[in-house]
Amino acid sequence: MAGPSPVAPLAHAPLIAPSILSADFARLADETAAVAGADWLHVDVMDNHFVPNLTLGLPVVESLLKVTDIPMDCHLMIDDPKRWAPSYAEAGAYNVTFHAEATDDPISVARDIRAAGAKAGLSVKPGTPIEPYLEILRDFDTLLVMSVEPGFGGQKFIAEVLPKVALVRNLVDAGELTLVVEIDGGINDETIEAAAAAGVDCFVAGSAVYNTADPGAAVAALRRQAAAASPHLVL
Ligand code: DX5
Ligand code: ZN
Repeated sequence: MAGPSPVAPLAHAPLIAPSILSADFARLADETAAVAGADWLHVDVMDNHFVPNLTLGLPVVESLLKVTDIPMDCHLMIDDPKRWAPSYAEAGAYNVTFHAEATDDPISVARDIRAAGAKAGLSVKPGTPIEPYLEILRDFDTLLVMSVEPGFGGQKFIAEVLPKVALVRNLVDAGELTLVVEIDGGINDETIEAAAAAGVDCFVAGSAVYNTADPGAAVAALRRQAAAASPHLVL
């Protein structure tokens, strides 16, 4: 006799998170308005220590929060997140993600972010394995898998990170973790289907959104493409 049929994982809509790293920094309010239909607004904070690039920090995030209703997804590529991350949550960011490689005590940083009112995200660089972090992912709301080396937009997608996505997708679908699985780097119309098929929920896209004539239309097109590529995603 056949055993019980496996329970199909619940399908949900793909989340598209445009990264303003590829926007015009002199016109950030307009560039944010141009992606009004986006699910999350991805804001890359870089400190020129954790990564070899410098972008923006809390004052710009606070100003942006005043001009948009899109939930803000702050990606902190910084040293010492224990010191800095809670301020982004207090300012009103929806999700605050920091890097596993930047702290010895990720659980305590996650607790501080949640206590300050935001969802907590953990990010891993392409070369960082996920297995050592599986247990502590229970303390997080988001896992951000980097599919380029953090620091710059417009780089080539590293497909070798997709097994990390698939591993965590299986744990989420089995009910062992409750997490948004997010991917960041090199996502465009040639790579989003593979990421969706591996089990991504939330797709960050910088150059593929902002290096186009119509960023809002690019968001909608990526969302449709992701939804069509994976049974766990629907429109
Ligand atoms: C890179 C940033 C990304 C970047 C992605 O360190 O974390 O969010 O904006 O840009 P694209 O989509 O162009 O690879
Ligand atoms: Zn990012």
